Amino acid sequence: MWIRFGAVTDKGYDRCIFPTSKKIEYSSLMQRRKFLHFLGTGTVSLGLLPPILQSCTANKSQRKSGGSLSSLIKGIEPSLKDELVLADGLHYEVLISYNDPINDTEFFGFNNDYTAFLPDGPDKGMLWVNHEYPDPLLIHGHTNGPKSRSGVEKEMLALGGSILHIERVDGHWRLIKGAPNKRIHGLTPIPFNWDEPIVGSREAIGTFQNCSGGVTPWGTILTCEENYQDIFGEVDRHTGLIDESFGTHGWSAYYNHRPEHYGWVVEVDPQTGAAKKHVALGRFCHECATIVELEDGRVVVYSGDDKVDQFMYKFISSSPGSLKEGTLYVADTVNGIWIPLTMEDERLSANFKDPTEVMIYCREASALLGATPLDRPEDIDIDPVTGHVLITCTNNKAKGNYYGQIIKIIEDNNDYASLTFKAETFLTGGKETGFACPDNMAFDQGGNLWFASDISGGSIDKGPYEGFGNNGLYVVPRTGPQAGEIIQVASGPVSSELTGPFFHPDGKTLFISVQHPGETSKSMDALTSHWPNGGDSMPLCSVVCITGPLLETLNLL
Ligand code: FEO
Ligand code: CA
Ligand code: CA
Ligand code: CA
Repeated sequence: MWIRFGAVTDKGYDRCIFPTSKKIEYSSLMQRRKFLHFLGTGTVSLGLLPPILQSCTANKSQRKSGGSLSSLIKGIEPSLKDELVLADGLHYEVLISYNDPINDTEFFGFNNDYTAFLPDGPDKGMLWVNHEYPDPLLIHGHTNGPKSRSGVEKEMLALGGSILHIERVDGHWRLIKGAPNKRIHGLTPIPFNWDEPIVGSREAIGTFQNCSGGVTPWGTILTCEENYQDIFGEVDRHTGLIDESFGTHGWSAYYNHRPEHYGWVVEVDPQTGAAKKHVALGRFCHECATIVELEDGRVVVYSGDDKVDQFMYKFISSSPGSLKEGTLYVADTVNGIWIPLTMEDERLSANFKDPTEVMIYCREASALLGATPLDRPEDIDIDPVTGHVLITCTNNKAKGNYYGQIIKIIEDNNDYASLTFKAETFLTGGKETGFACPDNMAFDQGGNLWFASDISGGSIDKGPYEGFGNNGLYVVPRTGPQAGEIIQVASGPVSSELTGPFFHPDGKTLFISVQHPGETSKSMDALTSHWPNGGDSMPLCSVVCITGPLLETLNLL
């Protein structure tokens, strides 16, 4: 059911979108391609923004007269080409691809997703890259039947994350050979940051299904374990039985790791590679972990559970810089309330034996407390100008929502520690707006919103997705004559998705992953993509660096 709240204003409808949508006529509600309400009237005070956003906002006002677009941004049309098609004024270079060596013994992993760049001087820095899920065909040529142990182990080693040291020479980024480049993967022992063991163990073996993430104020990486159930299944809390029907990866034939050891937010120190799993942030299909530092040093972490009709969460720490001490809340977006997932609530204390069990089975606890089911909440970003929290909801096909929407949370008093908020629809996907299934987002230094789409590989250009082309990247300028327009600036190769956009602080490079090109291939003889090398080559998921005058101008706006 869609509930409209608020009034019709000169900025269009503000609509509360919850609980999940039934089929609606998007076009009748979304008459204009321009969304003037995007301009954001409620500017949050600088003191409430994390330092990185304060500097972004300050730079923006200082530079306001510096940049201007001499001509309109010319977007691209949807494309079905097996190419990374870019708008005029943008170009790209492949930085690194699957299986490229990063040191003497390790290689760059598969299905690169989230990227985060931590600068170390103007032309050097550390690039973190997530590696999400395996494709048995493209990793070890597997098509059907039981997998070999060596095939499974190849997959385990291909997931997790990469720590890459990179440098820019003559405008071109490259891996620094001999630097302490490292991998963590599906066989790396990782302790839990929690006082109680998790089903008898103080550490998990491995991290995998690493989707999106975040960067902490203290310079570490948060990497999120998303579809963990596809690897070692899921446990029924009441019977203890493990349901392995979700996935086809078959790792459990050789490793009997517990499902409860996955589905966490993992923090990685990029200097040492040391990692820990943060139990206090809950266990579910974490898409991302977007962290905000409060004035007193405490932190707030937002995270969505990317499953149909699952929930959005935030953790508020009770001591500065802690991802262990604090309270996890789940969103009731109908009433604008963050509900605490604590044993003080009698509904939880009557049904769960301790806080550890609540954290492991967040979904059950949240449903019990009346949290609001959402349309697959994915990426979460903070608007650097308004301070509002944006959440992409990619779709909910069972409820007729094929195109998804971006929603906005406005915390009361613009305080990220607030326990009450307002929720609104921000942008809605569909034919009228020209995009479907929003997923990863990033704001550039000019405060412009960039977001990528994630129509599943097998659905591209079919049924409701006909005409949208391959998955793309879109920019929504904040100012200028095209303010509020949704402009497609990139189209990925066949059956790929553009993930993990992350801007270099100088605004001259956009790091972005080209994930799962050719994932619809049925065999090595019938590859659906040959990107990036063309010919008969196998497709290679890769991180690319996008540069060019259009990027620089937008970042200076
Ligand atoms: Fe890995 Fe929800 O995308
Ligand atoms: Ca995603
Ligand atoms: Ca997705
Ligand atoms: Ca993906």
